[in-house]
Amino acid sequence: MSSVTAGEYGPLIQKIRGLFGTEEFIPLHAPVFGGREKELLNACIDSTFVSSVGEYVGAFEESLARYVGAKHAVAVVNGTQALFVALQLVGVGPGQLVLTQGLTFAATGNAIWYTGAEPYFLDADPETLGLDPVALERYLKEETLERGGKRYDKTTGQGVGAVVPMHTFGFPVKIRQIAELCAAYGVPLVEDAAESLGSLSQGRHTGTFGTLGIFSFNGNKIITTGGGGMIVTDDPALAKAAKHLTTTAKRPHKWEFFHDQLGYNFRLPNLNAALGVAQMEQMDRFVESKRKLALEYQGILLGTGLKFLQEAPGDRANYWLNAVELPDLAHRERFLEQTNEAKVMTRPLWTPLNLLPYNQQCRHDGLATSLWLYERMVNLPSSVRS
Ligand SMILES: Cc1ncc(COP(=O)(O)O)c(C=O)c1O
Repeated sequence: MSSVTAGEYGPLIQKIRGLFGTEEFIPLHAPVFGGREKELLNACIDSTFVSSVGEYVGAFEESLARYVGAKHAVAVVNGTQALFVALQLVGVGPGQLVLTQGLTFAATGNAIWYTGAEPYFLDADPETLGLDPVALERYLKEETLERGGKRYDKTTGQGVGAVVPMHTFGFPVKIRQIAELCAAYGVPLVEDAAESLGSLSQGRHTGTFGTLGIFSFNGNKIITTGGGGMIVTDDPALAKAAKHLTTTAKRPHKWEFFHDQLGYNFRLPNLNAALGVAQMEQMDRFVESKRKLALEYQGILLGTGLKFLQEAPGDRANYWLNAVELPDLAHRERFLEQTNEAKVMTRPLWTPLNLLPYNQQCRHDGLATSLWLYERMVNLPSSVRS
């Protein structure tokens, strides 16, 4: 055995290498371009329609909407701006609070800030790593009051603009409970499904439970367009508004340039959409491959005492990133050190957002479970194997 696999995790590292059949560097998540990507990119270049006008933008929107079972999809430049726009469309704006989980990628909180609202961080559910409906209910019940059909924070008087759960690593949050709470308390639900394309909660795709949902196609996601995002909704007026706002709010006209509000240049270029069309054609194979890898991880982790994160009964996770729980912070540090040293890429969870300097003034509910998870959970290499 070589020195790179020395240490208590050496045997596990060798088994991970076995799953990927290589002694080379194993990335956390590499894209796979195994379909018509080059063909469609070439066709797109030949058409000269490489920016936001062109057939692939519409085709990508249609194929994603069909796949997740949403009535409308609007392609945009990335997932962060998709979330920013979705929040604006449900009326989130300056001075409001938006409820989200503290354990998420920075972009979730950033998109809230961009609207002029402020994030309020709630704790994670240890079973899903996503927004805990118990924490959400406690906040809504104990810390808000109703006025004119809207919810306000009792302490600051700020309006509660939206709830944004995130399906961590592709594991569906308890979205049905969260949706019921949002309906009962009259707060719009916007799903950050950036990581969970292909994940279902009891047969229904994540991203389709809220007023709007968003996806990301960054290079590390289950499908990629290089950079890109999508807003989905069943509401035709919101879909129209999303398209309008993300195309500089220009009124359609043969020659006139008239912008009826302050809009954004957030539309996804046709080149990126061409990649998206080719990637969507492989979605079923990608999900199947990732779920098979997860089963194999379960196998190699048996008997190690390490807990492998699994989908909840009745749900289907896309297993975007596989995750395992270590006994404590010291074990986590040794695991990260030994695996990365051996060129098997692993990483910890995100630093809970309330600990980032620009979020330190944000209110939160203590985030006890989030911190507990942060000290113990790591992600394992999770690429689609070809
Ligand atoms: C949870 C979450 N939200 C939002 C985003 C933002 O997506 P993007 O990188 O496409 O802006 C990402 C991924 O990058 C993410 O993981």
